[in-house]
This record gives sequence, C-alpha cells and structure tokens, in this order.
Amino acid sequence: MELFETKFRDSMSSKVPLLNRITYYIVNRKGKQMRPMFVFLCAKLLNNGEVNERTYRGASVIELIHTATLVHDDVVDDSNKRRGFFSINALWKNKIAVLVGDYFLSKGMLLCIHHQDFDLLKIISVSVREIVEGELLQLDKARRLDITEDVYYEIIRQKTATLIASCCSLGACSVKPDSPEVETFRKFGELCGMAFQIKDDLFDYGEEKIGKPTGIDIKEQKMTLPLIHVLNNCSNDKKKWLINSIKNHNTDKKRVKEVIAFVKEHGGLDYAVSKMLSFKEQALHLLEDFPPSSYRNSLELMVNYVVERKK
Ligand code: IPE
Ligand code: IPE
Ligand code: MG
Ligand code: MG
Repeated sequence: MELFETKFRDSMSSKVPLLNRITYYIVNRKGKQMRPMFVFLCAKLLNNGEVNERTYRGASVIELIHTATLVHDDVVDDSNKRRGFFSINALWKNKIAVLVGDYFLSKGMLLCIHHQDFDLLKIISVSVREIVEGELLQLDKARRLDITEDVYYEIIRQKTATLIASCCSLGACSVKPDSPEVETFRKFGELCGMAFQIKDDLFDYGEEKIGKPTGIDIKEQKMTLPLIHVLNNCSNDKKKWLINSIKNHNTDKKRVKEVIAFVKEHGGLDYAVSKMLSFKEQALHLLEDFPPSSYRNSLELMVNYVVERKK
C-alpha cells in the first residue's frame, strides 16, 4: 500500500496550479483505500502472492475513478463534508468540482491507455457507465418516490457494487488475464459492494461521526432499504404520512427526525442489517473454493470489515 500511494500520487499530477492545489488537498485526506486493497488481495490470492505493474496501475485507476465519483457525487447530493473535511464543492464551488471530477476520470483512462492495458480499461469503463446509470436511476426514483426493494438493489449494484466488482475482477485480470476466475472475483466483489452500500445507507440513520453528513438521505428524498421495507409493511395511513413527509416536509428537521424514529421502531434497520449480512455470507461462500492462504484470510477480514466498519 505504501508503494501504491506514491504511484497513485504521481498519477494525479498536473501542470495546472489550481488542479495541483486541489489534488494536494485530496491526497492529504485519503479515505479507507478499501478498493486498492481488494485489487491487490484478489491478484495475490489468484497468483500465489505475486502482483505486477499492471496490478499497481489497476489499483491507481480504480482509486482515481473512485475519487472522481466522490467529487461528482457531492455535487449531485449537495453535500458539504467528505472524509471529515469540507468537500471540493463546498470549498471551490460546483463549477470547479465538476471539472476536477472529469480530470480524474480522464487521468484514470489515460493511465490504462498509455500502458496498453486495454483489458483493464474495458473492465473499468463498464463500471463508469454503470455508476452514472445508477446515480441517474436514483435521482429519477427520488423524484417519483416509487422505489421498490428490487429497484433499490439495482441502484446500489450500479452506483457502488459495480466498482468493487471491478476491483476484484481487475485484480484477477492483472495477473491472469484469461482465467475463468476473473468472473468469480467479479461476482465476489459485487456481493461485497452490495453489503458495503447497505452499510453506508445504515450510517445515514445513525448519529455517529463518520466524516460525512448523516440524516441527509431523506432530505434529498433518497429512499433506502430501511425506509423501503417499512413502507412495504405498514398501514395505508402510515404509508401516506411517510410519503407526504418525504415529498413535502423533507427539509423540516423535526418531521425528518419523526420519520427516522418511525423507521427504527418498525424494524427497518434490523431488516437492512439482515440483508447486508446475507450478501456478506454469499461473498464469503465464494472464497471457500480457494485453498486456505494468508491472502484468503485477509480477504475474509476485508469482507467482515465491510459490514463492521465504523466509517
Ligand atoms: C464512499 O466510499 C462512497 C460509497 C460508495 C458509499 P468509501 O466509504 O470507500 O469512501 P472513502 O474512499 O473511504 O472515503
Ligand atoms: C455512493 O453514493 C456512490 C457513488 C459515490 C457513486 P452515496 O451518495 O450513497 O455515498 P456517500 O454517502 O455520499 O458517500
Ligand atoms: Mg452522496
Ligand atoms: Mg449520492
């Protein structure tokens, strides 16, 4: 990871002073770096602990794309905090944040192209398309307030799970390009990603300090699994009250608190936790086909971290 970090830093450089200032700001507030860890561990598990330059580039590309999506996501969600500090849009405004996100996206693509890693580029490009589709589907559903549980899973698969799926398949592909395990790892990453986003949506119902705002999903009219489950399992009157609260009173702090309390009282969080754990178990099950090794062990620890993490 230390070597990765220097390579990642280098991959962001620019001749434009403003971009360098923003890049400096971003790299000094690094995230959990779970995605590069998934890349390396999947490559190592498949290749007896050996990684190569393609693995490092793949990890950098993924973290560049991840950074780009976070910068854009905070514009879309009108969010002013990220990783415990002000978001890029909060400090430099939307115009600059949009362009900075595009810059990281292009840097990621070019890193693959310069080294002719077209197989890796293909994996990552599919994810980029799906993330955009997922974010748009979510915006559309937030407007109509007609989201079902299945649509929720489709949204989180696209906006989040697909990138973690790419981490794992790209890690595998970096060391064994044509092996059937590339698909196994993709599936494994997708299941981890589903659990990961359900966990992220659960944070929004909590009060813990996680480095970004909580309680903003309802304000943004974003319906996530705890709420969807409660909507499907309450009386028509309560359903009307919930929908009306989200549609017309989403900026009323007291009303939003009441909605959150209602969801908690009616088992919304418990239901989401049970679904999250089910995705986790499915992911762990896929690892059972590999012989025991320190890499498999570390990946199992990563899967558990996804659901137990505190931020
Ligand atoms: C945040 O991802 C975006 C989601 C998909 C929920 P992370 O929680 O991995 O972000 P950092 O990189 O650690 O800040
Ligand atoms: C996460 O979206 C997915 C992407 C960043 C594309 P969210 O809006 O749910 O994630 P946070 O909570 O802002 O990190
Ligand atoms: Mg967001
Ligand atoms: Mg969002």
